[in-house]
Amino acid sequence: MKMGKNLYIKTFGCQMNERDSEIIEQLLAQQGYIPTDSPEDADLVLVNTCSIRDKPEQKVYSLLGHLREAKARNPSLRIGVTGCVAQQEGVRIMERMPHVDLVVGTQQIYLLPMMLGRLEHGTGSGREIATNLDAGFVIPAFQKLLRNSPPSPASPDFKRFVTIMQGCDNYCSYCVVPATRGREISRPMVDIIEEVEILVDQGVREITLLGQNVNSYGRNSLGDGDGTTFTDLLRRVAGVRGVQRLRFTTSHPRDLSEDLMRCFAEIDILCPHFHLPVQSGSNAVLQRMNRKYTVESYLRKVDTLRTFCPDIALATDVIVGFPGETEADFQATLDLLARVRFHGSFSFKYSDRPHTRSAAFVDKISEEVKSQRLARFQHLQDEVSLERNKEYIGKKMEVMVEECSTGGCKGRTPTNHVVHFAEPHHPALVPGVLVSVCINHAGKHSLRGEYCQ
Ligand code: 5AD
Ligand code: SF4
Repeated sequence: MKMGKNLYIKTFGCQMNERDSEIIEQLLAQQGYIPTDSPEDADLVLVNTCSIRDKPEQKVYSLLGHLREAKARNPSLRIGVTGCVAQQEGVRIMERMPHVDLVVGTQQIYLLPMMLGRLEHGTGSGREIATNLDAGFVIPAFQKLLRNSPPSPASPDFKRFVTIMQGCDNYCSYCVVPATRGREISRPMVDIIEEVEILVDQGVREITLLGQNVNSYGRNSLGDGDGTTFTDLLRRVAGVRGVQRLRFTTSHPRDLSEDLMRCFAEIDILCPHFHLPVQSGSNAVLQRMNRKYTVESYLRKVDTLRTFCPDIALATDVIVGFPGETEADFQATLDLLARVRFHGSFSFKYSDRPHTRSAAFVDKISEEVKSQRLARFQHLQDEVSLERNKEYIGKKMEVMVEECSTGGCKGRTPTNHVVHFAEPHHPALVPGVLVSVCINHAGKHSLRGEYCQ
């Protein structure tokens, strides 16, 4: 293969996908592919796709539409689709999009170098597809390869994601993930620790452990598993020398144990930020969503969590306009927001997804009502976030620097708030360094302050 080919990856969706894109870059670096920011310069464009809601999926098709023209201008351009839409649609993408050269599902990205090789040498059928979903955990298949490859140049070198499990067994009635990412499987702890150690050696200081439902880590393991739970894993990762900040995402409220809550009191590098998707404030809706908890049990867990870690910043996900959601159901979601006072949230209009139970539910809510409810929810969240953020004014917060320019510096607090502060002309102020910032201004989405070592 000729060296120095340019690779452009467009990533949609979650952090899991971001991590997969990093892995793809690392794998393809060994084949001579160099990441580029510009699709025009690319020899290979990969679209790493998300199908969680209708909107990201539509964006994928619109980008693929544009790429048709790019390929007409440059017939040697290779175009590949990876991720959840690739998994979900498989050969249908090939049929709809003759300009797509390869389709790779969520569990087979390690086959990419081989598939590209076949395209390059003309040894296959000319188009490549791999969408098996029973391939076991993705990472072990090429853990050795990753160990020997340089970090992906596109990812920040001070904070990184580490995937600890794949798939999901929860079957929330609206969710496409079990269909696109397969059954829940946990990765062996030794592999995870090894990856964290490699990252720390490369200069990484903040680790975020990733899984669809990290609380159930160890429930289904590769091989027999070793009985390790998520809290065991957290303590072990926290013990790796050089890790300065530890985070995890995401959690299912049903599986949130007191043991995990206690970790926030006991592990000092575990950041006081918790993403605990509630989805709805109505028990009737939660039941139809198959969430397996009630509003009351959710609230009890939040209260207990706050006894272990009073300063914890809570974030959530909410779906508005789930089939059959009444005005009273929606009001209950607003009441829950007012009661918990989430620091932030991601809120979405319900959309039907393939292979989900709720797609067949009757009493679908109109687009108009969904849009109104979303706007009302987001308006209240903005008010709450601003009030919450004002609570930090006058406080001195630890900030991990992300970038500095002549305009000033930007970083994040342990609570995951973005903080802007003036560049103090400090030579040691490089990305990844921890500094103290005294907060003097709060907005809805970020804080401002002064460097105050
Ligand atoms: N419609 C709208 N939002 C959804 N989510 C998941 N599936 C759907 C759907 N069908 C949201 C949930 C989840 C987040 C990642 O996306 O809030 O927590
Ligand atoms: Fe989107 Fe879910 Fe797939 Fe992540 S796992 S890319 S959120 S569909």
